[in-house]
Amino acid sequence: MANSPSGDSVTDRLLRVLETFTPTRTVQTASEIGRRAGLPSSTAHRVVGELVEAGLLERDDDRHVRVGMRLWELATRSSRALRLRQAALPAMERVQSRVHEHTQLAILEQDEALFLERLSSPDATSNITRVAGRLPLHASSSGLVLLAFAEPELQERILAGPLPASARATITDAAALRRKLAEVRRLDHAVAPGYIEDVATGIAVPVRDDAGTVIAALSVVVPRDAPVEPPLRELRAAARSIHAVLRAGKTPIEWEGATRADVPLGTMTTALDDEGATQSKETP
Ligand code: PHB
Repeated sequence: MANSPSGDSVTDRLLRVLETFTPTRTVQTASEIGRRAGLPSSTAHRVVGELVEAGLLERDDDRHVRVGMRLWELATRSSRALRLRQAALPAMERVQSRVHEHTQLAILEQDEALFLERLSSPDATSNITRVAGRLPLHASSSGLVLLAFAEPELQERILAGPLPASARATITDAAALRRKLAEVRRLDHAVAPGYIEDVATGIAVPVRDDAGTVIAALSVVVPRDAPVEPPLRELRAAARSIHAVLRAGKTPIEWEGATRADVPLGTMTTALDDEGATQSKETP
């Protein structure tokens, strides 16, 4: 890619512009984007104009800019995240309808927990998670699950700190975090009472692929002193069900457009029975 006089490639500048958008900062002016991206005003206006032209950003009548649907469409299309999210959604809906609290799915991404989906109900407890938002690995239940089963190099990098406090109970000491990660591996789940915000407890379980590798964390956020066992049971059943859907090799979305002839005879699909356990059904 051609470089600017400052040595930035076109890709660098595009990325810096796009990265000024966050889960909580979704609308900005071109000048604000330029300032936050560290770009000269004229460059920012030109890059933003080009991105608007391409549909990757959208500009409203007040000249405010937001991420465009075209960017969402391209980014979502056949990504790993889409497949996982589609495999997880039915089980997540079941957890959410039974626990009546936020239910969320996260993956490990660049040393943080990145949230792919969050289901909520209006009267659910406080929750700072956003879809396409991130939380620190050491300070959230999903993050602890992802970290506990991650490569040792990543664990050591996070343990080396810093481990900033998000709330009063956040683990900020490396030895204590090491013990907590061992506990998560032993129990196969993480409970994070007040780690990221004082009033809430996160409870998370690992989601595994066919090879047994942890590929995601499924969690609920409940009030700080709520019982842990009932949501944990739901989470475990849901994680098993997601595993089975992934294992069957086809996620629901991939079946959607399929005609009968597309679906191989005897192909197994998965469904939840009343207890949340996975049942296999043979397609006729
Ligand atoms: C957690 O997963 O530990 C968690 C996440 C978001 C919250 C509270 C807890 O708001």
